[in-house]
Amino acid sequence: MVVKNICCLGAGYVGGPTCSVIASKCPEIKVTVVDKSVTRIAQWNSEKLPIYEPGLDEIVKARRGKNLFFSNNIEKAILEADLIFISVNTPTKTFGNGKGRAADLKYVEGAARMIADIAKSNKIVVEKSTVPVRAAESIMNILKANNEPGVSYQILSNPEFLAEGTAIQDLMHPDRVLIGGEETPEGQLAIEELCSIYEHWIPRKSILTTNTWSSELSKLAANAMLAQRISSINSLSAVCEATGADVSEVAVAIGLDSRIGPKFLQASIGFGGSCFQKDILNLVYICESLSLPEVAAYWQQVIDMNEYQKTRFTAKVVQSLFNTVSGKNITLLGFAFKKNTGDTRESPAIHVAKTLLDEGASLNIYDPKVEESQILYDLTHPSICESPEEVKKLVKIYPDAYSATNGAHAVVICTEWDEFVTLDYREIYRSMMKPAYIFDGRKILDHEELINIGFHVQTIGKRL
Ligand code: NAD
Ligand code: UGA
Repeated sequence: MVVKNICCLGAGYVGGPTCSVIASKCPEIKVTVVDKSVTRIAQWNSEKLPIYEPGLDEIVKARRGKNLFFSNNIEKAILEADLIFISVNTPTKTFGNGKGRAADLKYVEGAARMIADIAKSNKIVVEKSTVPVRAAESIMNILKANNEPGVSYQILSNPEFLAEGTAIQDLMHPDRVLIGGEETPEGQLAIEELCSIYEHWIPRKSILTTNTWSSELSKLAANAMLAQRISSINSLSAVCEATGADVSEVAVAIGLDSRIGPKFLQASIGFGGSCFQKDILNLVYICESLSLPEVAAYWQQVIDMNEYQKTRFTAKVVQSLFNTVSGKNITLLGFAFKKNTGDTRESPAIHVAKTLLDEGASLNIYDPKVEESQILYDLTHPSICESPEEVKKLVKIYPDAYSATNGAHAVVICTEWDEFVTLDYREIYRSMMKPAYIFDGRKILDHEELINIGFHVQTIGKRL
């Protein structure tokens, strides 16, 4: 079979960009991205896409209506497809066995059941969502138990390694593509089919093929190792603050060792995003289920260190402001979990905001890409606050950094947006209450210059 028709279940941060790039690189293949959400599909078909990613708009506009389609007609897309990506969400379970740790596979299972109910011809089903090891087995069991006579399936694991904010670059020039499949002739054939799609733009030597379980575990392992580096440097940032060492200098010094390397050593207020925490919790849960408590404890520590970092930073803000922020105006610059995205899932800014609100502060918030409704949604969520009305009174969203900082007692940099580096801090200082404080949670500002202007400055991993 030569794949001519692809369907992707799930039009989210992964499904949308991934399939847009496939459509752009494989003009002879029809790619249909489907979702249960009518709103999300309408947004993909509109001028304003549901997610912000540099370079995404251009690709979607070039291919939409030609060989790239966004639709709610899941049945038609499954019937037509030779290959189906499952790219649905796999959040942490919020109830029952494994609550707070295990991956909730109800959406993956739902997707598998849909395929089994609808498909009338052979399909290659590709697990793109991040899943626990051996999830492909569960998908296969569902498909086999429900398939139409004569319909057969091959399941592949093809985890996605893109990072938000650089998704298009990552998809265009991935370090590697990983494909896991069954070690049978049919499994190997399916792997070749998926390889041939990626080979439209990725050299074969960058496409790694493994058995299914290695592929599934490698995704969890990659995220765990990346997050571990951040927790490691963040743990050292505390040592730096206590000793007078500078964590940026330490990061450069250790990163020059080619065995360690320079990337992912940026100390911060802690990592956020929808995946690091969820995937490590999932790994911890798997280890516990496999009776490997020492391994589970090892990875749990990466999460615990991240919590410690977020708490430590916010405590420093409160402590510096004479241990009381009640009635004070504090500006948060940035609300997204990193720059170049409008995504706020698990953003450390939410932690900072919640703690300051609990302490009675009023918050002025500005983020270049996060919608006001999203910020209010995050801060009034039942897991964050008891009184949404009180939060709405205390939080104001501003359209730019200057209006957000006007009259504030303190500014907290929560996201490393480039535009925050080049703000006119003299102007900001003039408009703020005195003494004026800046807490640089991302280490992006020129601290000497800010001190010369008159600010009281605190940052991570360096005494000022
Ligand atoms: P998302 O929440 O943005 O999108 C998932 C979409 O799937 C939602 O729009 C939802 O409505 C839809 N959906 C759920 N069940 C469905 C069904 N049965 N049929 C059709 N649509 C359905 O999630 P995401 O951020 O794109 O993540 C998807 C998966 O990819 C997760 O497993 C995640 O861990 C993994 N991942 C995410 C990233 C990232 O940067 N966000 C990177 C790599 C891997
Ligand atoms: C991460 C991985 O980098 C991707 O490879 C993976 O595919 C993805 O998770 C996923 O599975 O969802 P993402 O979360 O989008 O991507 O973004 P990252 O660049 O990894 O940043 C995650 C968090 O760590 C952000 O809050 C960022 O600010 C923080 N970070 C990152 C640091 O604090 N320091 C660093 O040095 C790097």
